[in-house]
Amino acid sequence: MQNLQIPHATTISALRTRIRTWREDKLRIGFVPTMGALHEGHISLVRLAKAHCDRVVASIFVNPKQFAAGEDLDTYPRTLIADAEKLTDAQCDLIYLPTNEIMYPQDYSASISLKGPALGLESEARPHFFDGVATVVAKLFNQVRPDMAFFGEKDYQQLLVIRQMVKDLDFPIDVLGGETLREKDGLAMSSRNAYLSADERSRAARLNAILTDFAAALEAGRPLAEARAEAETAARAGFDAVDYVEARCATTLAKLPDGPLETPTRVLAAVRLGSTRLIDNRPVKTPS
Ligand code: PAF
Repeated sequence: MQNLQIPHATTISALRTRIRTWREDKLRIGFVPTMGALHEGHISLVRLAKAHCDRVVASIFVNPKQFAAGEDLDTYPRTLIADAEKLTDAQCDLIYLPTNEIMYPQDYSASISLKGPALGLESEARPHFFDGVATVVAKLFNQVRPDMAFFGEKDYQQLLVIRQMVKDLDFPIDVLGGETLREKDGLAMSSRNAYLSADERSRAARLNAILTDFAAALEAGRPLAEARAEAETAARAGFDAVDYVEARCATTLAKLPDGPLETPTRVLAAVRLGSTRLIDNRPVKTPS
């Protein structure tokens, strides 16, 4: 382990020793799980956690269970020293850095399997993904035992999946979503943006523009099927491939009928630029 200035724990017992006194002092503990390669979006979650809690723990663990064979597990950016500096500046109180052996010892066998908001959208292209995310997040929740946990709205389906898991499995944890942070041209911040070539980077912001126009069309009362088809055509013109462009119920991700919007709605998309997959989403203002 590299020499880090910020308090950190690499084992469950070291983590629990650090947290025990906070709990004895009745301090409220916030938790921000991450896979590292931190950007301002992650740091804004730490700030949100600081605003709601007395102490904040951030974890960095690149979770092999949420990557399929052939995905970017090996190349996923690992930038621990820079991450620790950013977390120190954001006044994070503790970094938890579990190893693969701690999270998944040789005889490890459990997995959480999900339906509900985990079905469709991301699961079409990445069927392994949410079971892997839920499994690691459930383990991290049991290890840290926070009062509140913070997830970015950038991964909107993931946020709903975690909320549902917390409800289904009775975790005594409040889950809060943090707003998506964007680059100046509108591209949602993501650790995977580092994979984009200069040319791909200049095209990537189009995704936000397409979703913004899609949301505006729905807000203006355009029929859903027509607005969706237009957004998909724009996405096909702007990107190398389109996994989905959809408008869904914002709380369940259920499909919506093609009438006037009556439920809170979210537009979501996943597209590909070269070998990089970009996902993004935007809220749609519906009449209250
Ligand atoms: O969003 C992420 O970075 C990951 O999916 C998470 C929640 C840290 C689980 O590995």
